[in-house]
Amino acid sequence: MDPFHDQLPYTLKEADFPALGQLYRGKVRDNYSRDDRIVMITTDRLSAFDRVLTTVPFKGELLNRLTVFWFEKTKDVAPNHILDVPDPSVLVVRRLEPLALEMVVRGYITGSLWREKNWQDYGLDLSGMKKDQRFDQPILTPSTKEAVGKHDQPISPSELVKRGLVTQRQWGEISAIALGLFAKGQEWAKKRGLILVDTKYEFGVDKTGKIWVIDEIHTPDSSRYWIAEGYDERFGKGEDQKMLDKEFFRQWLIRERSYQGEGPLPQIPDDVRAQLAGKYAELVHTLTGEKPDLVPGDTRARIEKALKSRKYL
Ligand SMILES: Nc1ncnc2c1ncn2[C@@H]1O[C@H](COP(=O)(O)OP(=O)(O)OP(=O)(O)O)[C@@H](O)[C@H]1O
Ligand SMILES: [Mg+2]
Repeated sequence: MDPFHDQLPYTLKEADFPALGQLYRGKVRDNYSRDDRIVMITTDRLSAFDRVLTTVPFKGELLNRLTVFWFEKTKDVAPNHILDVPDPSVLVVRRLEPLALEMVVRGYITGSLWREKNWQDYGLDLSGMKKDQRFDQPILTPSTKEAVGKHDQPISPSELVKRGLVTQRQWGEISAIALGLFAKGQEWAKKRGLILVDTKYEFGVDKTGKIWVIDEIHTPDSSRYWIAEGYDERFGKGEDQKMLDKEFFRQWLIRERSYQGEGPLPQIPDDVRAQLAGKYAELVHTLTGEKPDLVPGDTRARIEKALKSRKYL
């Protein structure tokens, strides 16, 4: 047996620590706010096509480890919201006023931008480019942050300012931060044999007006990675790139379950869950250069113990 199968009975579906504060449950994280801090617990939930379908062993701690890794690596580019990491699956963060936009940075034309060819919504003209082609300079394709259940809407920088979602000065600042973080991410990914293709950042403002990077960064939930080796050849032949994100699972769902987000939730076999866990662990290994130390056991009990010993509970 491997640690991934051993961990199958212990995955964390819901954190369930009401004493930590007011709960906001995202698809993947359970966020408990109180006063000026949020305890963010990354669960093992796996979503695809906007539905939570199963849990994956160690997924929460693997994703959270990546966020910690990247925030540490980029802290000289911009201040981030991390205050404490009491457990590999948990962040305690500074609670800030979020700016109501998602800052998407793209190094390549692919995904929804390629499919929808809606670049005019961002005030850009990308006609004449080929699928998966690299931009000379990364581009910004911001979107509004909509309420749960609604899709985020593309928006141009001038419209963002006009609607009062950010000031012109804030736009200038977050653009520079986003491009700086992305450059750092691309540079590191390249050393590890990967391409950071695109990603999404969120920002918060404190009472003095200072801007901080919030949420998660450069995780496979917020970013797209490709394998660098063979990019040129695949691009030249018009073949799809090799992905290191959730595409593997999406394709399994379509192939084995004919599932694309509609109808009853499909059953996910334990072997597939364990295999997915292996993929997440591999991604962390590849990106950080270190093999994550995964110890099978009751995740919730481990988190509870850590929160108690740091007096959050
Ligand atoms: N430091 C922070 N201060 C205030 N809000 C934050 C901070 N960091 C993140 N947030 C917000 O907290 C929420 C975290 O939610 P989470 O990512 O768990 O779920 P979601 O974004 O609603 O859905 P999804 O699961 O699709 O990501 C987001 O709305 C994010 O903007
Ligand atoms: Mg989120």
